[in-house]
Amino acid sequence: MTELKPTPEDKFSFGIWTVQYPGRDPFGEPTRPPMDPIRAVEKLAEIGAYGINFHDDDVVPFGASDAERDKILDSFRKVLADTGLVVTTATTNLFTHPVFKDGGFTSNNREVRRYAIKKVMRNIDLAAELGAKIYVAWGGREGAESGAAKDIATALDRYQEAFNLLGEFVTDRGYDIRFAIEPKPNEPRGDIILPTAGHAMAFIETLDRPELVGINPEIGHEEMAGLNAAAGYAQALWQGKLFHIDLNGQSGPKYDQDLRFGAGNVRGAFWVVDTLLAGGYDGPVHFDYKTPRTEDDEGVWVAAEACMRNYLILREKARAFRADPEVQAALEEAKLPELAVPTLAEGEGWADLEAAPNPDVDAIGARGMAFERLDQLALEHLYGLRS
Ligand code: GCO
Ligand code: MN
Ligand code: MN
Repeated sequence: MTELKPTPEDKFSFGIWTVQYPGRDPFGEPTRPPMDPIRAVEKLAEIGAYGINFHDDDVVPFGASDAERDKILDSFRKVLADTGLVVTTATTNLFTHPVFKDGGFTSNNREVRRYAIKKVMRNIDLAAELGAKIYVAWGGREGAESGAAKDIATALDRYQEAFNLLGEFVTDRGYDIRFAIEPKPNEPRGDIILPTAGHAMAFIETLDRPELVGINPEIGHEEMAGLNAAAGYAQALWQGKLFHIDLNGQSGPKYDQDLRFGAGNVRGAFWVVDTLLAGGYDGPVHFDYKTPRTEDDEGVWVAAEACMRNYLILREKARAFRADPEVQAALEEAKLPELAVPTLAEGEGWADLEAAPNPDVDAIGARGMAFERLDQLALEHLYGLRS
């Protein structure tokens, strides 16, 4: 095993809210004291992170005066300069204050929608100043608990209107910022609009400037919907839409566990890493999880370091899997190279296919695909029996 030490080339980044999370849940009070954003940045730099992402309210408390905001931002800029941490990404909190109880961009209340877009624009100005290239849009409360409460088609009109306006805003201001929509099926709403990577990618194509908008799939959110996260990442890469990633852990379709990356569905995490490597993803390797409320401050940093360590472990395993000559032979046997050959030959059309003789379907049907051997090799790499 090579050294599992994060380097800047690994581009590991954290939402500062991950380490700031004090352990509040629907059933219990916080178990940890509030963490100053300055300390969050300093400690993240210390453990080897490269970048950060923040919600406006993680840094400047909601409702702070302009003077307070300026003062806080001065010290935030200073800690960024002192530590050298990069602001890769920023985002807006459109879910904590009661004003957002029915969402931001798709609230039934027009005044809320106008306010939500203003709040985002204000933070985009800051994000641009701090050098962020990606603006994450997680529609946490864009949804409903009951059928008639939300007219989904009309809400999608408003969602589209908001992204069109924000696209115009960054274009007019000349910002080098693109948006990454983060899908999630439910929680905190009963059902959330744009629940999966696929829904979000289809929606993006309806926008005025689709090139400015991609997705930020979170492993746990895709798995909450019972989906294969790696397959969603692969499609997003294929469509040129994987603008950002939220890596974490989840054990099956249940509440949003937000476990540290590598915990929960380990096998799923392995395939996500393999997919990112194969697809040449080169954005920030971002972690979005919550340290369980059983932990104290020390546990918070154990979990943060573990996210990076688990990524490095899985990256090494995925590379070893791909480099293993037995795996390459098994891939061949499983006809993966053949999948890469276009179904029709150069110059062939449907008429040639119509005239072509049928294959020996019984012989083909009787022959196995040899996928079990291939998958067992992957598991043996994951279990540490091969390297
Ligand atoms: C979740 C979400 C959030 C968002 C984040 C960015 O776990 O439900 O991932 O953590 O990513 O708030 O807005
Ligand atoms: Mn989550
Ligand atoms: Mn997330």
